[in-house]
Amino acid sequence: MDLYEYQGRALFARHGVPVLDGGVATTPQEAVELAERLGDRVVVKAQVKVGGRGKAGGVKLADTVAEAETHATNILGMDIKGHTVEKVMLTVTADIDSEYYFSYLLDRANRTFLCIASTEGGMEIEEVAKTAPEKVVKTPIDAGVGVTPEIAGQIADQAGFPVDLRDQLVDIFVKLWDAFVAEDATLVEVNPLVRTPEGRALALDAKVTLDENAAFRHPEHAEFEDKSSVDPLEQRAKDADLNYVKLDGHVGIIGNGAGLVMSTLDVVAYAGEKHGGVKPANFLDIGGGASAAVMANGLEVVLSDPQVKSVFVNVFGGITACDEVANGIIGALQMLADRGEDVTKPLVVRLDGNNAEVGRKILADANHPLVTEVDTMDAAADKAAELANQEA
Ligand SMILES: Nc1ncnc2c1ncn2[C@@H]1O[C@H](COP(=O)(O)OP(=O)(O)O)[C@@H](O)[C@H]1O
Ligand SMILES: [Mg+2]
Repeated sequence: MDLYEYQGRALFARHGVPVLDGGVATTPQEAVELAERLGDRVVVKAQVKVGGRGKAGGVKLADTVAEAETHATNILGMDIKGHTVEKVMLTVTADIDSEYYFSYLLDRANRTFLCIASTEGGMEIEEVAKTAPEKVVKTPIDAGVGVTPEIAGQIADQAGFPVDLRDQLVDIFVKLWDAFVAEDATLVEVNPLVRTPEGRALALDAKVTLDENAAFRHPEHAEFEDKSSVDPLEQRAKDADLNYVKLDGHVGIIGNGAGLVMSTLDVVAYAGEKHGGVKPANFLDIGGGASAAVMANGLEVVLSDPQVKSVFVNVFGGITACDEVANGIIGALQMLADRGEDVTKPLVVRLDGNNAEVGRKILADANHPLVTEVDTMDAAADKAAELANQEA
């Protein structure tokens, strides 16, 4: 999960990394109130989860409250690389002598953590990395050792940071590492980390990515979740603990096991070529237990996607036997009808594996008007694509 700058900045502050006073606003009026509190000289910064805001005109300095209001008015609603600005952050303006770059990240390719530091930070860091890579110093971090003050000092020296700033930088580097570990981050980036004319080091930008696999250890991270920018269907699926990814086709897909669902997507896309080019509408893995309740939640999410014209339920019975799944499907349709959902889209069901025969018989006996049972995966995909094409 990527954080907004204002969230990253709050996280830095919690770990003792020096940041400037500020706050967020969603309207020009709120920006005015904030600017009045912060003092005349403030920076108005677009809060979007994408880099290069400065170059895109999303970071503006204001010398008066009226200017802050103008900038907030202009920046709110602005589009930056496809992201609409819904919030601005206002902070005190810093006087800047030099801008540095500093980050810790998970280096998957080398199976380690990496520190990247440069005295040539700021908005041109990508350019520096290309034209003067020797100015960007990369240091692997041993997870077992971490970043001790000694190691932090070595990094500062190797990157060529000024000696008079060394103690402050060592402190910041250690604290950023502590934040990286304690928060289960995969990235903390400060660009720019600045030196003020008075010789103070400050973090002026904060980019943080948290490892969602560690979310169970961090109930406090739930506040960072940004429900507004999440697809509403994906949110619903998440609330129901389902592995769902929205795609843009017309055939809804439900399967058990990520591998089976992935191959179902391929098979449906292939079958769709013969049926007006219809494609899968989603990925949905309901996992091992395909109880009526889980199936109902899955069907509810898939059926509430207006793009979906037909649904392909592809189940390979293993630990969960096909008769349970068949009962689950029939039970789920009943459950949805009881919930008052308007279920009208055709379902193609393919059952194979453990107790497939019994499962198929259950479906045949139920004789549900919306359910077609097809024995093989290819034929079922073909049927689902054909139905989607008819309805589209
Ligand atoms: N509080 C601040 N005071 C003065 N200048 C700032 C402040 N915050 C940002 N800047 C300037 O704006 C530039 C871009 O801001 P930054 O937060 O790094 O956005 P981005 O990385 O998305 O372009 C910085 O490199 C810095 O020069
Ligand atoms: Mg930046």
